[in-house]
Amino acid sequence: MISKFFAYFKPHKKLFIIDLVSSFLIAVCNLFYPFVTRVIINDFVPNKLLTLMLVWGGALLLVYAVKAALTFIVNYWGHVLGVRIQADMRRKLFRHVETLPFSFFDENRTGTIMSRIVNDLFEVSELCHHGPEDTLMSVISIVGAIVMLALINGWLALIVVVFVPLMVLFAVKMRGRMLDAFEKSREKIAEVNASIESSVSGIRVSKAYTASRKEDEKFDKSNEEFKAARTAAYKNMGIFQSGMSLFNDILYLVAIVGGGVLFYFGIVENPGDYAAFILYVTMLLTPIRTLVNLFEQITDGLAGFKRFQNILDKEPESEPEHPVEVSLLRGDICFEHVDFAYKDSENRENHVLEDLSFTIDEGKTVALVGSSGGGKTTICHLIPRFYELDGGRITVGGIDIRDVRRETLRKSIGIVAQDVFLYGGTIRDNIAYGDLDAGDEDIVRAAKLANIHEFIETLPDGYDTQVGERGVKLSGGQKQRVSIARAFLKNPPILILDEATSALDNVTEMQIQDSLEKLSEGRTCIVVAHRLSTVQNADEIIVLSEGKIRERGTHAQLLAQGGEYAALYYKTFRS
Ligand SMILES: Nc1ncnc2c1ncn2[C@@H]1O[C@H](COP(=O)(O)OP(=O)(O)O)[C@@H](O)[C@H]1O
Ligand SMILES: [Mg+2]
Repeated sequence: MISKFFAYFKPHKKLFIIDLVSSFLIAVCNLFYPFVTRVIINDFVPNKLLTLMLVWGGALLLVYAVKAALTFIVNYWGHVLGVRIQADMRRKLFRHVETLPFSFFDENRTGTIMSRIVNDLFEVSELCHHGPEDTLMSVISIVGAIVMLALINGWLALIVVVFVPLMVLFAVKMRGRMLDAFEKSREKIAEVNASIESSVSGIRVSKAYTASRKEDEKFDKSNEEFKAARTAAYKNMGIFQSGMSLFNDILYLVAIVGGGVLFYFGIVENPGDYAAFILYVTMLLTPIRTLVNLFEQITDGLAGFKRFQNILDKEPESEPEHPVEVSLLRGDICFEHVDFAYKDSENRENHVLEDLSFTIDEGKTVALVGSSGGGKTTICHLIPRFYELDGGRITVGGIDIRDVRRETLRKSIGIVAQDVFLYGGTIRDNIAYGDLDAGDEDIVRAAKLANIHEFIETLPDGYDTQVGERGVKLSGGQKQRVSIARAFLKNPPILILDEATSALDNVTEMQIQDSLEKLSEGRTCIVVAHRLSTVQNADEIIVLSEGKIRERGTHAQLLAQGGEYAALYYKTFRS
């Protein structure tokens, strides 16, 4: 995994090296101050060497100027490096997610996928540059300080060598405990949020049923739990902060008294050495803090990277090795002994279709009817190969749908389903999803065929009107017309209408029915409808239940047969 992580640095190698070298030099610059202090106290002050003092002061000033420039490089270019890697990773992940099969989107909620693509990668990119920078800077500072101390006096170095690991250990442990506790309180506040949200959105119900006592109880429970979790978190924070400040103070104490004792016994000889020692010790505090923070950053960043890599490891939708070269698939649609089960993330199977066979002749319309959950939508989704079959095969014009590219297959099929998704953008863009290369005239023609052109013309911005989440709200019927216009524009040989009008009221349904009939002309068509009025004219009606065909025939035949279809028909129409 680590090598996969570092592979993302490769295209930015130059920047990465500049960043690392700069961090290294910053740490080196920091070592100068105690060193200069030492010579000034030991030598220049007692010997009254003003010029040398000024020269060294000047040199130190120069070092500081260089350090300022380096700090700029690390802060600016380091973050640029991070954000470039982040953008690379995000592009790769987004492209990959686009190729994943439907099952991935069944198992992962939009919010989760979003946070994988956005939040996780933010943390990963922070780690990308802060990780190497901070490690290098703190290690150089600490090791540098110890080496410098050893050069002055081995005993002084020893004091630091013993003390620093103790402090880091304590800090990492206590900080971890504190962060866990805060994480827990974040979970609790999320519960409070959820509880408030459900209570507020259900307030009309609870008022109507005078049930607010019940809501109070639910709210109080999560609110109390939050209070307890937060209290525990603050306790850990208190321990961490007081422990750290105690360690700081003891470090100063050890420096001043320890150094003083060594000085007293003559082990340390010069006041300048003593002063330099104190300065090096205080200099250690920052890199220790950085290392402690880094520990957390590495944990979070690597966890994010692991989740990122997990998605990248998911198999994309496969393509045939030697695809049949056709521009569009057309002809009879044949289901031959099709078996299909949905699988969940734990690979448990939900068998939906068993040994299903039927044929839809080219240009004909077949209607699927049957109780909900019978597998109608599943059949509609298998034709464009949204899911893979477990047995049997589906052919179009004699070609197995697995032998053509998915793009060819899906270009050949138009789907109008119950809920219509409008992208944020203009009405024109939304219709243009039917054919991204279509010109304006084609779009207008499609809109006219879908009977929505006149409505669009009444909008203030016409075809440029913004729709979708932040735009004009269209009614269910208008949205459905946009999706019919998409299908007209796409002009596919195969058309699937999956309960296209089920969400609409009767009047709108009847109006849209005309457009749908026009749309299905000359195409091989599968219609799923729960209102039997819309299926009467189909060339064949297939009655499905529990993934099996119960009856099939024309409307007249099935009525005469007096079976399930006839029963359904009379139930809906006698009332
Ligand atoms: N994405 C899915 N993942 C898992 N199971 C599903 C999924 N979609 C549908 N099902 C299940 O498959 C069965 C058939 O559903 P569906 O084809 O939608 O029926 P219909 O369209 O006839 O109402 C149902 O039991 C349903 O719970
Ligand atoms: Mg359905």
